[in-house]
Amino acid sequence: MDKGVRKSPMLDPYKIREDFPIFSSESGKNLVYLDNAATTQRPRQVIEAIKWFYENKNANVHRGHYPLSEEADRLYEEAHERVAKFIGAQSWEEISFFQNTTHAISSIAIPIVEWGLSQGKRRILLTVMDHHSNMLPWRRAAELIGAVVDYVKVTEGGYLDMVDLERKMNDDLILVALPHASNVTGAINPVEKIASLTKKYDALLVVDGAQSIPHLDVDVKKMGIDFLAFSGHKMLGPFGIGALYARKDIAEELTPVITGGGTIKDVTLEKIEYANLPYRFEAGTPNVAGAVGLVAAIEYLENIGKKNIFEHEMKLLHELRKMLEEIDWIELYPKKTFGEHVGTVSFNVKGKNPHIVGKVLGDFYNIALRTGLHCAHPYHYAIGAGEGTVRASFYIYNTEEEVEYLVSSLREIKSKYLS
Ligand code: ALA
Repeated sequence: MDKGVRKSPMLDPYKIREDFPIFSSESGKNLVYLDNAATTQRPRQVIEAIKWFYENKNANVHRGHYPLSEEADRLYEEAHERVAKFIGAQSWEEISFFQNTTHAISSIAIPIVEWGLSQGKRRILLTVMDHHSNMLPWRRAAELIGAVVDYVKVTEGGYLDMVDLERKMNDDLILVALPHASNVTGAINPVEKIASLTKKYDALLVVDGAQSIPHLDVDVKKMGIDFLAFSGHKMLGPFGIGALYARKDIAEELTPVITGGGTIKDVTLEKIEYANLPYRFEAGTPNVAGAVGLVAAIEYLENIGKKNIFEHEMKLLHELRKMLEEIDWIELYPKKTFGEHVGTVSFNVKGKNPHIVGKVLGDFYNIALRTGLHCAHPYHYAIGAGEGTVRASFYIYNTEEEVEYLVSSLREIKSKYLS
């Protein structure tokens, strides 16, 4: 594929690619990487920050009074502050680190449901479009401690059905949990509008930000979000580090379920006094190097600017959708878009299993896509893609040429292998 010199007016993906060692590695130099909703590649700034930590500042945190440990403490606390600022939280105490979005939501589901039940409420409202990470933890919490789960439907195109959502809201709701952006269709949900509804019914709003934080400006206070989880690895950061924003006045009333070292002020055989925020949720030795790497990722993204990132993705998204809409043997999800999406496009070659399509594109054309049900089985069943979809998801280093290459490869495999 000719890499050419074509540039985006707002962001130069070719220049950005120079920061990503994978694209000049043996495995990555001819790779068309369109699996960014699963995980992004990492720039050398992030890789070097992790290496720098291990080579210069490595010690456990909150357990030592020697200078090296205190420096690690400072870096770790600063990482909480940096994340707080990045998403508009009021204080660093509102940020706890976990392994990823799934781990954050799984850690907080029982405490929130338990708290809600103690307020005399008993319903949990999820959505059909939730990733399993923001669905199964609530279902399990409900099963274990006795809450009732309901789901907001989606429209035929896979958008959140706002009429159904409003119909299902009442004073008995502990919380509404939903994805800010879908990992399947990329549809962005109207979080601020939903926040005004949850406030009306005194329910909490829990947002899965895994697919939005890497792409959109998010301000949890302005948007009225009570809890928000996201993963570092989907925004150029390391694997194994994710963050939870937890509104302070609620979070300090929650009792953690994942507990142990680091989560307490004092323990006797009779009672446990939990630590202040955020440490009451951060059980065991944390991923300090991951937190340092996450800060480097935030700095990298802020240098580019979320607005530029979003605009770049929009250009690629519209280009891909426009080309695919012209092909009658392609099924797009949704067929027509309404409102905004992040840079994720799911489709099928009609009548063909998505795994076969992805495997051929991967093996013969070196295009990395995700195929299948993308940990969102109920959503796929609802949008009529029971066998799954082929998903292309963009990020800052993707180019228009890659979009064109994907479409020309699809045309070629259709005539060569899938007719
Ligand atoms: N949640 C990630 C995805 O949608 C892994 O691919």
